[in-house]
Amino acid sequence: MEIEELYQEVILDHSRRPRNFGELPDAAVLVHGDNPACGDEIHLAVKFDPDGGLEDIKFTGHGCAISQASASLMTMKLKKKSREEVMGMLRAFHDLVTDETNDASKALGDLRVMQGVRKFPQRVKCAMLPWRAVEQALEQGAGEATVSTEPS
Ligand code: FES
Repeated sequence: MEIEELYQEVILDHSRRPRNFGELPDAAVLVHGDNPACGDEIHLAVKFDPDGGLEDIKFTGHGCAISQASASLMTMKLKKKSREEVMGMLRAFHDLVTDETNDASKALGDLRVMQGVRKFPQRVKCAMLPWRAVEQALEQGAGEATVSTEPS
C-alpha cells in the first residue's frame, strides 16, 4: 500500500468514526470553532485536572473529513496531557501543516497523516480548526468562546 493511501485510510476512518465525539456535560470550557468559508463547525469541550492539564476532551459538530479527522486524532493525542505537553503538541502540529521544511515530529504519531494538507491553504484551515479551539480553551480556562479560521 502506498503511504498516501494509508494516510487516506486513517483520515477516512477517523472522519467516519470520530473518537471522543460527544458531549462533555461537566466541561470547564466550551469553544465553538467556526470556518466561515464552508460553514463547518466544531464544538470543543474541555475539562482540566487540578494542575491545568487536559483531563478530558470531547467534540461535536460537523465538517469535512480533514477537520473531523484532525479533531478526532487531536483529542486522542491530547487527553490526559499536561498543559506544557499540549502547548508543545500545538506548536508541533502547526509546524507540521504549515512548514514545508518541517520534518514531522515523531511525538505527533498518527497526526502526521495531516502533513499532506501543507500544499493547500484552505485545507490547512480545516486541519487547524480544532487546534485553534483547544488553544483558545487553554487560554480561556473557563466559560465559553468562539474562534474562527478567518481573522475578524
Ligand atoms: Fe470546512 Fe474543511 S471544508 S472545515
